[in-house]
Amino acid sequence: MSPIEEVIVNKKCNINPIWIMRQAGRYLPEFRKIRQQNPDFIKLCLNEKLSSEITLQPLKRFSLDAAIIFSDILMLPYGLNQNVEFKKDIGPLLGNLEPEEISNIEEIEFVNKLSPVYELIKLVSNSQFTKNKATIGFVGAPWTLLVYMLNKKSPKFNLNENFFEDKHLIDKVLKTLDKFLKIHIRNQIDCGAQVIQIFDSWAGLLKEKDLPYYIYNPTLSLVNYIKSLKVPVICFPKGIKNYKNYCEFINPDTICIDYEVDPLKINKEIKIPVQGGMDPKFLLSDKENLKKEVIKYLDIFKDHPYVFNLGHGVLPETDPNMMDYLVKTVKDY
Ligand code: CP3
Repeated sequence: MSPIEEVIVNKKCNINPIWIMRQAGRYLPEFRKIRQQNPDFIKLCLNEKLSSEITLQPLKRFSLDAAIIFSDILMLPYGLNQNVEFKKDIGPLLGNLEPEEISNIEEIEFVNKLSPVYELIKLVSNSQFTKNKATIGFVGAPWTLLVYMLNKKSPKFNLNENFFEDKHLIDKVLKTLDKFLKIHIRNQIDCGAQVIQIFDSWAGLLKEKDLPYYIYNPTLSLVNYIKSLKVPVICFPKGIKNYKNYCEFINPDTICIDYEVDPLKINKEIKIPVQGGMDPKFLLSDKENLKKEVIKYLDIFKDHPYVFNLGHGVLPETDPNMMDYLVKTVKDY
């Protein structure tokens, strides 16, 4: 069993495995080089030779304990035939949503469209670079995917005013997402994903009263499905105000926390294994500051099963030498 699984399955406290969200990405010159030659991001994700190479890039540089597959949460709407493009300096832009069409898509058509993602997972999990390391697959949570599919771009701070208007449409999309997210998860697991992380990047946009319908129930459906396949699941409800309620309702194997939440409070209130927390901005500071913050998290979670990670993805302007220093600091603790 890999060190990450020792923590999240066996609840070991005396080891500190580490991986980093967006560990394969724009802060690495070797990624930027491939990206420059491949301007179409979706096509790049669907090129298993390159996407597996990108996935392994950070593992060749740093002694990380997991590979997170190089893909995107928006591959799911793409698989449902909604147009998805990534525009430089703007981010993702999605096309029209045809609710009748997406709910009628055949499983085989969807799986064929995304098959390079599954091939990439086979390549990564069989690679010598992931020996004794976890291969992490992932999906977007139903709520965050609904946000992109209806809003058609990143909401930044607010949703369109009429976002919640068409309840019939929302209900239909959530049902379709539940079906195809499970298919996407099962295929990732069948091809070698040993852990699944659910990213709910826009969990912070909802009011408390809307959480059961948009987040708790649809996420629980996925978590129970992943558990039934005997694979551990990490949930990351970024910006949610009450992590304790979330964990009580959903009970994932591990909860990933964002950088705005007080780790002391989490350590006190939450019994399940914890991942993440440190503000990615500390990687832009100096080594002394970075070390202090890393040690702060490791000290707080000393007697708690804890996987080191950040409280969101690593920033593109991060110096890879600081990442190296971060990994070494965690390993030397
Ligand atoms: O963590 C990893 O290293 C694995 C790869 C990964 C990507 N996206 C690659 C990517 C993962 C896990 C994701 C998840 C993802 N995608 C999320 C959830 C995590 C989060 O950041 O909150 C979200 C919301 C998306 C949607 C998305 N993809 C956006 C909003 C953007 C543009 C803005 C941005 O952060 O770059 C992307 C593009 C994207 N996905 C890039 C990468 C490496 C950058 C593409 C580029 O080179 O321009």
